[in-house]
Parts: sequence; structure tokens; C-alpha cells
Amino acid sequence: MSSSTTNIESVLHEERVFPPAASFSEAAHISSPADYERLRAEAADAPEEFWARMAGELHWFKKWDTVLKWDAPHAEWFAGGKTNVSYNCLDRHLETWRRNKAAIIWEGEPGEQRTLTYLQLHREVCRFANVLRRMGVREGDRVALYLPLVPELAIAMLACARIGATHSIIFGGFSATAIIDRVNDAGCRVVVTADGGWRRGAEVKLKETVDEALKGTPTVEHCIVVRRTGSRVNMTAGRDHWWHELAETVSADCPAAELDSEHPLFILYTSGTTGKPKGILHTTAGYLLWAHLTTKWVFDLKDEDTYWCTADIGWVTGHSYVVYGPLSNGATTLMYEGAPNWPEPDRFWRIIERHRVNIFYTAPTAIRAFIKWGEQWVSKHDLSSLRLLGTVGEPINPEAWMWYREVVGGGRCPIVDTWWQTETGGIMISPLPGATPTKPGSATKPLPGIEVDIMTKTGEAVTAAGQGGYLVIKRPWPSMLRTIWGDDARYREAYWSEIDGVYFAGDGARRDRDGYYWIMGRVDDVINVSGHRLGTMEIESALVSHEAVAEAAVVARPDELKGSGIVAFVTLEGSRETSDALKEELRRHVAKEIGALARPDEIRFTDALPKTRSGKIMRRLLREIASSGAVSGDTTTLEDFSVLEKLRAQEEE
Ligand code: WTA
Repeated sequence: MSSSTTNIESVLHEERVFPPAASFSEAAHISSPADYERLRAEAADAPEEFWARMAGELHWFKKWDTVLKWDAPHAEWFAGGKTNVSYNCLDRHLETWRRNKAAIIWEGEPGEQRTLTYLQLHREVCRFANVLRRMGVREGDRVALYLPLVPELAIAMLACARIGATHSIIFGGFSATAIIDRVNDAGCRVVVTADGGWRRGAEVKLKETVDEALKGTPTVEHCIVVRRTGSRVNMTAGRDHWWHELAETVSADCPAAELDSEHPLFILYTSGTTGKPKGILHTTAGYLLWAHLTTKWVFDLKDEDTYWCTADIGWVTGHSYVVYGPLSNGATTLMYEGAPNWPEPDRFWRIIERHRVNIFYTAPTAIRAFIKWGEQWVSKHDLSSLRLLGTVGEPINPEAWMWYREVVGGGRCPIVDTWWQTETGGIMISPLPGATPTKPGSATKPLPGIEVDIMTKTGEAVTAAGQGGYLVIKRPWPSMLRTIWGDDARYREAYWSEIDGVYFAGDGARRDRDGYYWIMGRVDDVINVSGHRLGTMEIESALVSHEAVAEAAVVARPDELKGSGIVAFVTLEGSRETSDALKEELRRHVAKEIGALARPDEIRFTDALPKTRSGKIMRRLLREIASSGAVSGDTTTLEDFSVLEKLRAQEEE
């Protein structure tokens, strides 16, 4: 990252505004800008009273003594309190009519369906909690979960939470080496996996990968295996056990442990730009409170809703918004195991139609894929059940936002563009769909209780409207990460040292004259052209606003004259042909949309862009390709290696 104190310049001009429909607002939990302002003011004026009032929404075995102990940069929330996440997500609904409500509706990629009511889910969780105890797992022990998106993953999480074990979920697409690093860093005693899972019609052989990994993980005593695909696996006697066999031997009664508010709930590894992955630590009460509140507020969740967040549970979005937030609210949460284009590119729309999904939360990378595949796949399904759409994970280009609104939402559903991070535990900046007029490409305003700002590198507030800078968070919040597992120095350094006294998010952002936030991308991706620092997101948005373009990624390569030249990697919509004329047209288009300064020096067409396994574009790799034609940096988080090969081959053409 540059140590320059120059701000990031904004060149994106977006003037469209979409206020919520009156009918939506009337029924919403937070139903007007005034309601939002009232909550914000309450939280800003007396934060501890505000959080104490909010914490009343959870079940407590024992009330806390102190709302917040803040010894910067370390927070303790609701100190002295005793609660349990699993109890909040399950037991408290059993005393209500929700006992037989669907908690999880699951669809496997091959098409099977399973529904678990709250009562059924509770029983499965209790059984598995007893299984873990039988395997010697005690309060504070770490358990690794390496599973496909099957109900057993949610069951295992809730079982860990029930007995105070700390889970570390490892995304089911990661390699043996990635498992070894994570399991060893956390010192896990047990690994839970499956024989396999389904992805694009093929079996992902999870147990095989685990067998490989367990050669290098001395702390692991037991491996519990879910039978999912039924394919043959090697079971090492004494170490490996079938889930279904163990579950038969234990009782379905397991009272939830009364845990301290700050008891470690989970570790989730996130890759930094360089170096080894960081084990982000989240604890019990504060994390759950924010997952609970944000799910209710941002998704305007009602008891009648069928809610679907498409994220894999291996990412934080799946933790907070597939499992903990929805279940704590007593909602019906849908889980789908497989790929969006299996067997055809309309699988998601088929699922929405079949289950009458009301709330749909996905990522810009998926939306861009849908655009590329073409709207005919969407329009052949009845999506009239949808009432709210959400997005997370990357900045969404205004034209992709408009497409989402019109084609998927039929022009009637509000869109919540939610900005947050693994580290923040829950959504920080987002519209409240019944209260906030939305603007395509803006995450709008911080939620009540969240104090964000834009600063220069030296810590001065950037107050001018439209001026870019570094996004920071100025006050502790309940679901903040507590530290990096085993490396508190890195915690201080990565988040609390870049700018004095505030949390450094690593994203660029600007605020417009209405106080709306526009996220401009990771600050490491900023491009410096002739002394102007530009966020990649805005140039990409200009490209995507051209009707031929589905997706674009912009990076810098060294340029003697200008400091940096701009190289744009562009994926076209399904039916479009590449040509030199189109390259020229796109360059002109960017110059017209945002100015000659941002005109790409080079356009490269590509079928696909290199992405992380959670769908974020890896501009770092594109930067290497654009400047040297080769990739030397770390590629372990890359989703599809063949993409790099193709990009290199194109270079040689
Ligand atoms: C980016 C995912 C723009 C951002 C929950 C952040 C976004 C990083 C948005 C965290 C959004 C996430 N608009 N950018 N709505 N949401 N990001 O840890 O760069 O996987 O810092 O958490 O994703 O990614 P993570």
C-alpha cells in the first residue's frame, strides 16, 4: 500500500435514487428515515444504554455486569454475563409455536430435499453435542469442520456452540495444505468431514483430502465422517468414525452450557494479501447480538419469510447470515449445496420458484455470472415471491445493481448492498430496506451503533463530499473481532496501527453530499495515474455500463510517463464477439463516462477472471500478468487455476 497521504479521487457519477415503496415501508421493522435517525441518535448519544437495551433481545442465563470494557484495541462486551448461542438459536423457540416451524430447508445439488424443524434440529444438535463430548471435546477445545453445504454443517456448528467448543470452519474447496495450516494454527482436536459433496455434477472427495491432511496434524485425535455421497472411503480404525453410527449411541438430551459472554465461539481464517492466513476470533454474546439484530433489520425478517443467503458456510457470510442470524430470529433459512449453473444456469431461479423464497442474498460475482449467462434463464421462472434482494462481498457496479433490480427483482424489490468483513462479524453499512432510499452502487449509511468515517492516512477526517479516503470505524462494536488467534501483535498491527486510534478496514470509500458511503475497493488495488489515485471499482463500473460487458477488472502496470498505465480485463456478455473495434469503443466509452484520465491503455478480453474461492476478483494476480506476463505470488486461494493459464496464453497470442 502506498504511504502517500493523497486521497483517493472519485470519478463515478451516479444520480439515480430509489426510495422504498410505501407498502414495503409500512410493514417494515424500521419504516422511515426518521425511525433510522432516532435509533442512530440513541446509539450515538448513549452507546452503552443502547447496546444494553438491544441485548435484551437475547436470552441470558445471567445478565452482564458491564456493557463494554474497552482497553484499546481490546474489547469485552457484556462482561459477567452468561449465555449460549445454541440456546438462543434453538431452545428458546421450542417454547413457542415455532417448535414445528421449518428451521432449515436444504436442497442437495442432485436434487434431494430435507427439512428440519426447530424441534428436529434441536434434537440433532443435542445428539452431536453429546458425540463431541464422547470424543473428549471440552469447553474451549477447537474443532475443525470441513464439510459440504449440508445440514450437518449447521448441526456441528450449533453443537460446538452448545458445549463451548470453538469451531473453525474450513471451506470445502480448500486443499490438504490449507487444512494443515488451519488445523495446526488452531490446535484442533477433532475434524468433522464427509465422504464427499457435489459440485457441478462431480463429487468433491473431502475425506480423501482430509486423509492427506491428517498426516501433518499432530493435535487431531478423531475424525468424524458424514455419509453424504455414499462413495467408498478409507476409515482408519480408532481415529475415524461415522457420524450416523456415533449419533445412535448417545442421548438426544444435552443442556446448553452457561458460557461467559466472551467465550470464543469461532475462529475463521481469512487470507491477507500476503503471508499466512489470519485466524479471526469471534466470541459469544456480542457476535450473536449483532448477527441477530442485523438479520432482523437489514433483511426485514418476518416469521412468514423464506430466507435464502447463497453463501457457503465456509465464509463469514454463511456463519452470520445462513446460520446464526436467521436461527436466532426463529427464521426459515434455505441452504443449497451446489453450483448455480447445475444442471443449467437457472438453478437458483428454480429454487426460488420451488420454495417461494422471499428474501435472497447473494454476491456481485454471482450477479455478474447471471448477466453473462443471459436474462432468459431468469425470466423463465416465476420469481414473484421475492420481496427483498441483497448483495455482499465486493463493490457492485451500478449497472449490475440495475440489472439485479429489474431482471431478478422485477423492479419491485429493494436492494440492500451490505458492506462488512470477516473481521466485523456482521453488516456495518447497509440500507434499511423500509427506511433508506437506495442509490445503485452505494452501501448507503452505517447501521445504528456503528460509527464509521473516512480519513486520510494521517488520521484527518475527510469531510468534503465525494472525496475519497480510507474507511475507518471509530468505536468498538459488539461483533468486532477480538484478536487474531495466537498473534495479537498482528491484530494490533493490521487493524489498529495504520491510522492512530481507529479500526482500519483496508477499503477506500467516499461519502456523498447525502452522507451516503460508496466503497471504492481494497486500498491495495488503488491505481495512481499521473498523480491521481483512482479506485478500480469506478473504472470497472464504467466498463460494465457498456452493453457488451458482463464483468471487468482493472489494474495498473508501470508506465514511465504516467506512473501507471491502466489495463482492463473484460468479459463480454454471452453472445458478444471480441474485436479490435470493440476494444477501441470500450476505451472511448470509459473516457466519455469518467474522463480521459481513466481511459484504459489496454483492453484484454478474457472468458473468466481469476477469483478467490469466495468470488472476489484477485487483481493482484492480474497486476502481475499485466506488468510481467507471469505470476509469482501466492495463488493458493485461487478458485480456478486454468484461468491463469488462459490469461497467459492470451498474452502470447
Ligand atoms: C469487500 C465478506 C463493497 C470489502 C462479508 C471488504 C464489499 C471485504 C462489500 C471483506 C460491499 C464486502 N461493497 N465491498 N457491499 N462487502 N466487501 O472478509 O473489500 O470476505 O473489506 O467478508 O469485501 O471480505 P470478507
